Formats: sequence, C-alpha cells, structure tokens
Amino acid sequence: MPINAIQACGGCRAWPNRLTRLETRDLRSHNGLSRPSGVRGFKSHPPHFHHYLLLNRICRQLDAYKRDTAYKYQNLFSFVSKLLYQESADQLLSEFTQVRKKTIQLFKPLRIEDAVMQSDSFGSPPNWHLAHVTWFFQKILEKHGATLEPERNGSSGFNLEYLNSYYQQFGKILPKQERGKFPRPTVKQTLDYRSFIDKKVTKFLKERWSTTTATITSSKNANAMTHELQYDIMLGMQHEMQHQELMVYDFQHFFERFPDPFDNYEPLIMNELPGESQIQRISSKMVDVPGGIFEVGYNGNAFCYDNELPEHKVYLQPFKMDVVPVTNGEYMKFIEEGGYEDYRYWLADGWELVKEQQWKAPLYWVKEEGNVWKKKDFRGLRRIDPDEPVINVSYYEADAYARWAGKRLPTESEWEKAASWNDELQRKTLYPWGDHKPTPKHANLLESYLWAPSKVGAYPEGKSYYGCHQMIGDVWEWTSSEYVLYPGFRSKFSEYTDKWTINQKVLRGGCFATPIAQIRNTYRNYFKPHERILFAGFRCARDIV
Ligand SMILES: [Fe+2]
Repeated sequence: MPINAIQACGGCRAWPNRLTRLETRDLRSHNGLSRPSGVRGFKSHPPHFHHYLLLNRICRQLDAYKRDTAYKYQNLFSFVSKLLYQESADQLLSEFTQVRKKTIQLFKPLRIEDAVMQSDSFGSPPNWHLAHVTWFFQKILEKHGATLEPERNGSSGFNLEYLNSYYQQFGKILPKQERGKFPRPTVKQTLDYRSFIDKKVTKFLKERWSTTTATITSSKNANAMTHELQYDIMLGMQHEMQHQELMVYDFQHFFERFPDPFDNYEPLIMNELPGESQIQRISSKMVDVPGGIFEVGYNGNAFCYDNELPEHKVYLQPFKMDVVPVTNGEYMKFIEEGGYEDYRYWLADGWELVKEQQWKAPLYWVKEEGNVWKKKDFRGLRRIDPDEPVINVSYYEADAYARWAGKRLPTESEWEKAASWNDELQRKTLYPWGDHKPTPKHANLLESYLWAPSKVGAYPEGKSYYGCHQMIGDVWEWTSSEYVLYPGFRSKFSEYTDKWTINQKVLRGGCFATPIAQIRNTYRNYFKPHERILFAGFRCARDIV
C-alpha cells in the first residue's frame, strides 16, 4: 500500500486507527506524493484537501529521511502518528462543541414554562432531553475512569436517576410517562450541569490525548489507548443529535395543541421552502432495480452505529421502487376512497387501532369546512400541500396505503440498494448522490432549516443512481423489515441498539429534522408500528413478475 492510501480515510478522526494498517515498508515504497485525485484501497470516502496539506508536511519529512541512509522509519512513524493523532483529536473536540451548541440553539426559543412540559407519554420535556444527553456523557466519562466532584454525582443538587432513560446497567429508571411530573433538574440546574460536563469532557479528552501523544512510539499504542474512548465520545454526540431530532418531534406535538396558530415554536432560523422553479416535474412513477446478491450494511471508515454492521450479503429479487415518496395528494385519494373504513387494507393490529383511536387521516390533519385538510406545524396553520410527501403516518397506515395502491412497502435491503448501489462505479455510495456530505441542494435535513418536508422533485441533484429522489431527508421511510441485528452483530455499547429487536419496524433515510451528521444510506432507525409522532412517510415497491 502506498503512502497516499492514508489520505483515503473517512475523516481525521479515523486516522489513528487507519495508521495501524500502514507498515514501515509502506513508507519505504513511497515514490513521491501527488495531489490526491481519487481514492485508492478504500470504497467510500473522498480525499480531503487539508489531509493533503498534512501529507505534504509528512513527505517533506520523508525526503529529509531519504537523504539519511539509515532511514529512521520508526521515528518517522511516530512523527506521523502524533501529527495525525493531534488532528484527529482537534476535530473530535470541535465536533463535540458544535453538537452541544446546536442543542442549545434548538432549546433557546422556548419559554421556561414550555421547557418542562410533557405533552404526552410518548414524548419528553425539552429540559429532560438537555439533561439526559448530558448525563449520557457523564456515564461515558465514568466508564473511562474520569472522576467527577461528589456534589455533581447526585448526592446533592439533583437526583440523576431522573435522567436514566432505559439503561438497566446504570440503576433506577424513572418511567418515561413520569418525566413531566418531576421537572428536576430545573432548567437552570440543567444548563449549569451541561456547562459542567462540557468542561469536564474537554479537560478529560485533552488530558488523555496529551498522555497518549507523549507515549506514541508505534501505531499500536495510539490505537489501544484511544479507539474505545473515541467511539464512545462519537456515540455521545450521535446520541445527542438523535435527541435533537426527538425534541423537534416533541415541539410539533406540544405546540400543535394550542388553538392559537401563533402560539408556536419559533425557530431561530427558518428558510424558504424550494420554489416552483426549483421543482423538477417527475414523469416516471417507478424505476426498475435489478436483483441478485447485494451487500447490506456500512463499509466505510467513519462513524456508524453497531447495528449497521457487519456488511453482509443478501439475495434480492428484481423489484420496482417508487421514484418519490407518497405525497399528501395521493394519500388524500386513499382517504377519499374509504381507505380508513375498509378492513381489507389493514393488518389485524392496525385495523383494531383504526377503530379504537378513530383514525381518519395522518396525525395532526384537521378537516375544515369545504373538505379542506389543514395542519398546524412549524410554518403555521396551513393547508395540506398535495405535492409534499405525506408525514406522521404509522407503519400500519403506510402498509394499508400500499395494499390499496396494489403495491407493497420495500424491505430495508431493497431500500438500501435503490439508494446506494451505483452500477457504473460497481460499489455502494454513502449517500444516494455519491460520497460527499449532504448540502441543502441534495436533501432537506435539519440544517436546511425548512421545518417541513419539501415538495417532491425539489432535489434532483440528490437522486440515486437508479433515479429515486429524496431518499435522504424530508421524511423517514417505513420499510417492511423487522428490526433485527445483522448476522455477526457485535455490540459496541450495551443496551443502546441491541435490546430493541422486538416489534419494531426499520425506517430509512432521515427527515427534515435529522442533523446532517446523523444520516447516511445505511442508517437504521426503528419505531413501533403504531407510532406517528416521528416524521415518517414512505415510498412503495412492487415485485417484477
Ligand atoms: Fe437517549
């Protein structure tokens, strides 16, 4: 492997581990470094220019060594390790700070009265989210041997048991439905607690890194001392991003109940939805996706959850996939043609729920005079737009619609193939459009700050190789797959993803409230089939017979 292979990692933070794959003989085989133009040896990640600059520094050092007949490769290796390690550490800390700030930005528009309310048992008070994600970082620090001052450990101040969501390993758990009844910690205590843990995490990581850097004499040292801590901190950040999205679900549910349309969550930033001139009219309804062996799961070098691993082979029959998610207009036809009144479309449990809950439309839809459907969301009280993807439907509703339409929901493997396989490249890509991170031109995610799904056809640059639009962003998409662990699964954090493999359906793709850094083609979300609070819609598939 030539030295320029190290430019092909998934990001700075992966470098210390990537270095373990390089041997001194790799350095010896280097014949000069050219500007990176592609990826060699790894499947999914583009080179980064700042890595290139860093490598130039390495190469200047290498040239100096070449003049020395002794070729002190071990020293060079140590030098490279430290350089890459420091870059990786700085990047991680900077990402940590950004994630923590984003949570506070989302929290800021709330009045203090709204911050501690729980509008239903399936949601949580915003203040609880803020404190809980901080508690999770505390547990990570404790796992790695950090000591926290006793008064912050729950013996005085406030009771940390309130913040345990479901981790049996961490002791007592306040039932979810009780969270709104115990507004502790107070908002002020929560903000103080956040700032305390932020400082603690920063100090701990800096101390740990300086110890590690000082002792790097070979790549093995760097790897052994950092890999698990690095993963856990990244897990803490990803966990916080998941809660950012959950907070947005809760804001929608909490404020929708207020009759005054102006009594609403007021985001700090709200951008305009894509205009008509940006919308591509889509003529074809479905595309063909060939069958055969397909490898499902993550194969890159950056962060992924343990439930996206290992990548493994499945066999797919050829199938058809909807080009865009099912729209409100299409869903209205299902309603108008008696979809909610005909048991033939519904799974048994779903039909019981339809009768018991008197479901007649997606969550939040209200029928006004003149047969007009409206909804109060972050953009105010507005008519349901027939060209936007339908949202806030349960799995049961998605499945019933698909039967009514003479189609079916895709499996998660079918969804992943339609999103990620590129036949020209003969490999999967990280996103439908390729390997580079989402921008507002590719997908509607949290950082687009649209606060609603965009009309179908709004992101032609984000389509997949097979021609499917908006697979990432706008609305999560229900699949027919049960949430199970992949064959060969190994847990990286007990109780996080591994104990939920019962009665849950997999969703793919993210929604307008999903942070950019959360989502990729292989990300597996899961919810129970009756749940409607999440921003979920769906697209249909069909067998090719
Ligand atoms: Fe959590």
